[in-house]
Amino acid sequence: MNDTAKAQNVYVRDVIKQRRSIGQMTEEQPSREQIEQLLEAATYAPNHHVSEPWHFFVLTGAAREELGKVMAESLKARMEEPTSKKSQFQLLKECNKPLRAPVVITVAARGVADQEEFLERVEATAAAVQNMLLAAQEMELATIWRSGSAASDPQVKRWFGLAPEDHIVAFIYVGFPKCPRQERIPTHFSSKTTWLS
Ligand SMILES: Cc1cc2nc3c(=O)[nH]c(=O)nc-3n(C[C@H](O)[C@H](O)[C@H](O)COP(=O)(O)O)c2cc1C
Repeated sequence: MNDTAKAQNVYVRDVIKQRRSIGQMTEEQPSREQIEQLLEAATYAPNHHVSEPWHFFVLTGAAREELGKVMAESLKARMEEPTSKKSQFQLLKECNKPLRAPVVITVAARGVADQEEFLERVEATAAAVQNMLLAAQEMELATIWRSGSAASDPQVKRWFGLAPEDHIVAFIYVGFPKCPRQERIPTHFSSKTTWLS
């Protein structure tokens, strides 16, 4: 911890407890420096064999619209009645999804043939995502980790230049909070823990 953090009593445990997903964001775009700080935090995550399996795509502006179009196109291909009113509504919603935040960081784990190693790569990348969420919390940015069917969609992967065996771990929506964060009290760890001695 640096001296400023010490003086302000910013502890990582407090940041962990303060973090909440915030879906409602203003249109203000975080600076490139702020985004780079999140990316840097990500790269300090533990990763087996120092494989550094992650890749980040930072989407702003029209790139989010392009992603929305690809997501909607691929959803359309999976629909039984794409021309129905309900489907049209869903497609419009899908198209607009990436516009819910000024920045969307897509975090992918590079694929590998060995399943055990692949699982570890996904786990390491998830740890990298959590580092980003915590760093963002400390910087008072709003974030939400989103996934959904687009994350495993071959067409979406292709648009990013990813291989079919790569895995999109998260679409991290980043911005500034539009509403105050609500406290969430998780289930106490005692009911999730077995002590063995
Ligand atoms: C792997 C993963 C995928 C998630 N996908 C979505 C998603 O697609 N949409 C969404 O609204 N939230 C998503 N979330 C966020 C969770 O809904 C959120 O973390 C949960 O409700 C707990 O709330 P909190 O983050 O505020 O503590 C995802 C979280 C994880 C870890």
